Amino acid sequence: METGNKSNGMKRRDFLRTGAVIATSGMFVALNGTRVSGSSSAKKVKNPVPEIKLHNGIKMPILGFGTNTLTGDVGERCVADAISVGYRLIDTAHIYGNEEAVGAGIKKSGVNQRELFITSKLWVDDSGYEGTKKAFQTTLNKLGLEYLDLYLIHRPRGDVKGSWKAMEELYEAGKIRAIGVSNFEPDQMAELLSYAKIKPVINQIETHVFFQEHIAYEYLKETGVQMQAWSPFAAGRNGIFSNTVLAAIGKKYGKSIAQVCLRWHFQRGIVAIPRSSQKVHMAENLDIFDFKLEKTDMQTIAKLDLNKTQFPEWG
Ligand SMILES: NC(=O)c1ccc[n+]([C@@H]2O[C@H](COP(=O)([O-])OP(=O)(O)OC[C@H]3O[C@@H](n4cnc5c(N)ncnc54)[C@H](OP(=O)(O)O)[C@@H]3O)[C@@H](O)[C@H]2O)c1
Repeated sequence: METGNKSNGMKRRDFLRTGAVIATSGMFVALNGTRVSGSSSAKKVKNPVPEIKLHNGIKMPILGFGTNTLTGDVGERCVADAISVGYRLIDTAHIYGNEEAVGAGIKKSGVNQRELFITSKLWVDDSGYEGTKKAFQTTLNKLGLEYLDLYLIHRPRGDVKGSWKAMEELYEAGKIRAIGVSNFEPDQMAELLSYAKIKPVINQIETHVFFQEHIAYEYLKETGVQMQAWSPFAAGRNGIFSNTVLAAIGKKYGKSIAQVCLRWHFQRGIVAIPRSSQKVHMAENLDIFDFKLEKTDMQTIAKLDLNKTQFPEWG
């Protein structure tokens, strides 16, 4: 595998298995600039996103880029744009039908995978031991990658136990740097933990100001599983981008509603993966690390919780 980081003399397998090369103490670690590969005078790209350390020791950016619905040429262009403005975490899934486009966008960006954090997900139709092994290889082929940074069980359906065993083996074989789940309720997570040899690093669940998931938040904190927010803007539902409470808070700091939402996630220690098809929005959504929501603003936002999904159709 091409590494782009040969100077540290680390073998691919060591990199995949340990993450020790980048581990440091403390929860958030400011990223250094990263190098764009492909030219002898590789240029530094400013990367403003702090990282979080997962329980297996590897680090991931606390803010990433979601790709649901971004398919084909649009998907390729958006992923390349997102990486060019500073995203390093890219979230895709088999069911989005865009793994090839995401892979093409990564390639187009010129940034080596070692500088990135690529997530994909196992769809329910492929659950079970054999299905998972096969689906994982298909995902790698579509992305054009040799390993994944993170692979998630997309939903707790089908033969979860068989899938988890296959994922544990892929992790131990060095094909995935971290394994986790998505859309698991606390009781479903507890069941998985009852037989898992390797604890999931992440649970990616719907989380935004209208569905704050306090029970899952506390449960995941207790179990040491990192919470990740999908649809951090509720995909624009419930009038989030014209919400007057969020607008008033944003005005105080000279920030947009989107930035207030993402800063709220960050201050809760949650990894968020906003999607955008517009480069200007992509950049705006990264610009959240130069202000801090006061406690009173966090409390005001807490009151926006409706404590229910904004996607009832996905039941
Ligand atoms: N695990 C799961 O089951 C699951 C489920 C759903 C989603 N996800 C993941 O989570 C990601 C994010 O969720 P999502 O795609 O549902 O939606 P989202 O990120 O909550 O919202 C996306 C919407 O926000 C708009 N937007 C983005 N930045 C903006 C800004 N600065 N100002 C105004 N509007 C802005 C986008 O429009 P523009 O394009 O015009 O910017 C788009 O319409 C997905 O893409 C996917 O990777 C996972």
